[in-house]
Amino acid sequence: MMRLAAAMLLSLNTATAADLQPFKDAGPYVPSPQSVVSDMLRYADVSANDFLIDLGSGDGRIVLTAAKVFGARGFGVEIKEDLVKRANEAAQKEGLADRVKFMKADLFKTDISQATVITMYLLPDTVNMLKEKFLGELRPGTRIVSHDYPLTGWIPEKYVQMDLEDKVQISGVTTTLIYLYIVPAKVAGKWEAHMPPAISKQPATLSLKQQLTRVSGSVRLDGHDVPLEDVKLRGDKLTFKLAGRKGEFSGTVKGSAIEGMLDGKTPWTATLGG
Ligand SMILES: C[S@@+](CC[C@H](N)C(=O)[O-])C[C@H]1O[C@@H](n2cnc3c(N)ncnc32)[C@H](O)[C@@H]1O
Repeated sequence: MMRLAAAMLLSLNTATAADLQPFKDAGPYVPSPQSVVSDMLRYADVSANDFLIDLGSGDGRIVLTAAKVFGARGFGVEIKEDLVKRANEAAQKEGLADRVKFMKADLFKTDISQATVITMYLLPDTVNMLKEKFLGELRPGTRIVSHDYPLTGWIPEKYVQMDLEDKVQISGVTTTLIYLYIVPAKVAGKWEAHMPPAISKQPATLSLKQQLTRVSGSVRLDGHDVPLEDVKLRGDKLTFKLAGRKGEFSGTVKGSAIEGMLDGKTPWTATLGG
């Protein structure tokens, strides 16, 4: 927090009147070193199938690199007009303007539902203010990559720490962190599950509790609640075992339905609130 906050104080001294319109300042303009940009895109496994949105896009380097190196499409949203102009000019110059664009807008008010990848290098309190927006607007499986600051309480899919000389100029220290998160499907609630006949011939109630990617629960079988074990939720993919029984249940969450297999062989399904 101290690192980007110190840079923020410096930037406030040089802010113009146009920069001071009412909006929540999510951080000063401090570009991510190009090597960090490459790593962020690599960890997110960005490809030509992706639509990437950089929140607070600065000079546009993350979106431009995603388009140039990985063939992705996307946009950057940035509050400072001069940076938006610079990024759009770079897109034109590099022949990328048909795939990327940059808009002057407040990132908190921007519709991000189109994204398959979100990137950000913002102040730590901002990153955490965005958590609800991410869960509300992004589709399950969307990757979120944050430079330096974590989404508190959300277990990252991956996190990498490294030391970079480039960062000393920016933050005073070499430490650099990259966090990768995957937006989980919403699974909390009571589901009517049609289990494989060997487990239950009657519909069974599958009760799931969820906190971000952490899921726990039980299935009511023959009048007993059997706890779920080894429950994992990655995007829309759910897996679990039943305590004391063999076999792994896997399933894909499709809104209010789950379709899956036991041990990849026997189908099972569930319907929310069924
Ligand atoms: C630390 S820089 C990151 C730039 C770029 N994403 C990168 O990693 O190189 C943060 C950027 O967010 C912009 N910003 C701050 N608050 C914003 C807001 N509410 N809406 C849009 N952009 C904002 C700043 O102007 C700044 O350019």
